[in-house]
Amino acid sequence: MQPHQSSQNHVTPEPSSLGIGTYLGKEDDQTDALYHDAIIEAVGRGCNVIDTAINYREMKSERVVGRAVRCLMEKHPGIRKNLIVATKGGFIPWDIDSGEEPSAYFQNRFLKKEILNETDVVQGCHSLKPEFIRESVLMSLENLGLEYLDIYYIHNPEMHLSELPASEFYRRLSRSFEVLEEFVQEGRIRRYGTATWDGYRLDASSANRLSLRRVIQSAEAIAGGLRHHFRVVQLPINIYMPEAPVLQNQELGGTWVSLLRAAEEMGISVMSSATLFQTQVLKENRLFSFQTLDNLGSSAARRALQIIRSLRGLTTSLVGMKTVKHVQENLQLLEISKLDTSEALRVISELL
Ligand SMILES: NC(=O)c1ccc[n+]([C@@H]2O[C@H](COP(=O)([O-])OP(=O)(O)OC[C@H]3O[C@@H](n4cnc5c(N)ncnc54)[C@H](OP(=O)(O)O)[C@@H]3O)[C@@H](O)[C@H]2O)c1
Repeated sequence: MQPHQSSQNHVTPEPSSLGIGTYLGKEDDQTDALYHDAIIEAVGRGCNVIDTAINYREMKSERVVGRAVRCLMEKHPGIRKNLIVATKGGFIPWDIDSGEEPSAYFQNRFLKKEILNETDVVQGCHSLKPEFIRESVLMSLENLGLEYLDIYYIHNPEMHLSELPASEFYRRLSRSFEVLEEFVQEGRIRRYGTATWDGYRLDASSANRLSLRRVIQSAEAIAGGLRHHFRVVQLPINIYMPEAPVLQNQELGGTWVSLLRAAEEMGISVMSSATLFQTQVLKENRLFSFQTLDNLGSSAARRALQIIRSLRGLTTSLVGMKTVKHVQENLQLLEISKLDTSEALRVISELL
């Protein structure tokens, strides 16, 4: 992410090459305690990107991120401006601590208040309706207990492409961005983007593929040209899911290029999710066959992360970490130089 001066005169801190994610884990207090300690440890070791979503662990992840960040702010006044706290909305959330069953919660929280009606929902769980996005942002701000969010992502918007023509999808995406621009003007969101699962990883011919150019045009359409705050995308990138650097599925000036190349050209930051493929890559013995990774010792995680974080055009690799030992192991990388991007691509191509 380029240090960026927004219209409200906020300077974006330089993001660390590794960030901490909070998706996995049980919805219980013990897991909260683990995440709390892991976040404190991670920030202490130079990681400043903290990623969550309203639906992660049924709102418990946002709440523990908020507690950890506020704890850091109490100990280190002034630290907030150095942190990048990101959350996401789009999935219809359930609050596990509400005392209501999911269906009653959905009725009372969204249907009765006319924030949603049944026809606004796709695949039974997701909506881009502006009123719903507005409510989701407000709920996230409350869960986190923070004055502002550094990044707000529309979460997996590509789910709508299987039910809508592309033109209608991008129109609805644009209306959700309009809500986010309003929050930017109020100083409650700094930047926004899309956090996706398969949208940016599909072939150019797939109907469900997201076009970064059209997504950006959806932001330009409501913010009067280039003054929009759509600045970041998130997608899975790991040694088994290498589409972002490898698959030429984005249009750029009349040619097809990879998502990472297109994003770099268009001034968009990229964060990788599932960088360890939720631990599946740790079983890959071939990680130990590359001399170029031998300075990383016996840690398969460090080796897998080193390859991905070295890709050109990638700002930050997110790693889910609720175990302090994993934080300590992985963040040793922050003291080690990245590979040349050509070397990272060579290793990826040998692992395919
Ligand atoms: N937009 C989306 O649709 C989307 C989807 C998935 C994820 N994400 C974001 O991306 C983040 C990262 O993805 P992820 O959490 O799904 O998967 P991940 O980062 O690929 O893997 C996380 C898993 O790896 C384990 N781990 C981490 N370091 C380790 C080490 N050194 N040795 C052994 N195990 C290690 C973690 O264990 P511990 O937890 O015990 O440390 C956890 O079980 C998420 O947390 C979330 O913020 C976004």
